[in-house]
Amino acid sequence: MTQRPSPADDLARWTTVDRYYEDALAPEDPVLEETLRTSHAAGLPEIQVSPLQGRLLHLLARAVGARRILEVGTLGGYSAIWLGRALPPDGRLLSLELEPRHAEVARANLARAGLAERAEVRVGPAAESLTALRRASTPAFDVVFIDADKVGYPEYLEGAIALSRRGTLIVADNVVRRGDVADASSSDAQVQGVRRMNERIAHDPRLFATAIQTVGSKGYDGFSAALVVADP
Ligand code: SAH
Ligand code: DHB
Ligand code: MG
Repeated sequence: MTQRPSPADDLARWTTVDRYYEDALAPEDPVLEETLRTSHAAGLPEIQVSPLQGRLLHLLARAVGARRILEVGTLGGYSAIWLGRALPPDGRLLSLELEPRHAEVARANLARAGLAERAEVRVGPAAESLTALRRASTPAFDVVFIDADKVGYPEYLEGAIALSRRGTLIVADNVVRRGDVADASSSDAQVQGVRRMNERIAHDPRLFATAIQTVGSKGYDGFSAALVVADP
């Protein structure tokens, strides 16, 4: 009797396709491989975006001609390198990270990627760093990537909008969480954080947004993207 593939079969299949596309589209990248090695050696959680997702972030930043990029949640610098590589030589990447140990690993990796001059990792709770950036009248960012603790997403969205201009692209990771995001009564604070961010997006006429579900080496999750279509 033929059976429906089990969830484990599905995951194996999606991961196989991720590997296929990585082989087909992504050449060897010693800097990124070293980034993953040093992150692992330092005991950082292995929750960075996948190689293909990193390429999507890079592609989006290049497509919008980003010169100033803000990241919320650095980890070991994997996504930061993909984003930083999209910048022109005089571009700037600022990445916000709570854990000094993560920031230290990320700085070394960004330097190895040749991005030391363009990239800065700022340590502290992202909400506080965002408030400080707003107070300092920081020039608008062209791309913001939100990927820190999910409970903070509504606040990070608010900060991102305040640091945006018309045309800024705001991308958020982990907005599906195995489908849990659709459960209004979820007791998971992270799920509720994502849902509250989505409510703010929906009620903000300055934003045009979508969400894409993803499967593959990071399981079942998703990205959202919001474009600032009016002066914030
Ligand atoms: N963007 C990274 C992955 C980030 S993982 C990549 O794809 O390579 C999430 C990161 O957010 C972790 O490093 C975690 O320490 C950090 N983080 C958690 N809470 C935070 C907070 N309140 N402020 C800033 N960073 C936070
Ligand atoms: C996890 C994945 C992420 O991309 C992230 O930013 C945080 C946590 C996870 O799989 O637990
Ligand atoms: Mg993430």
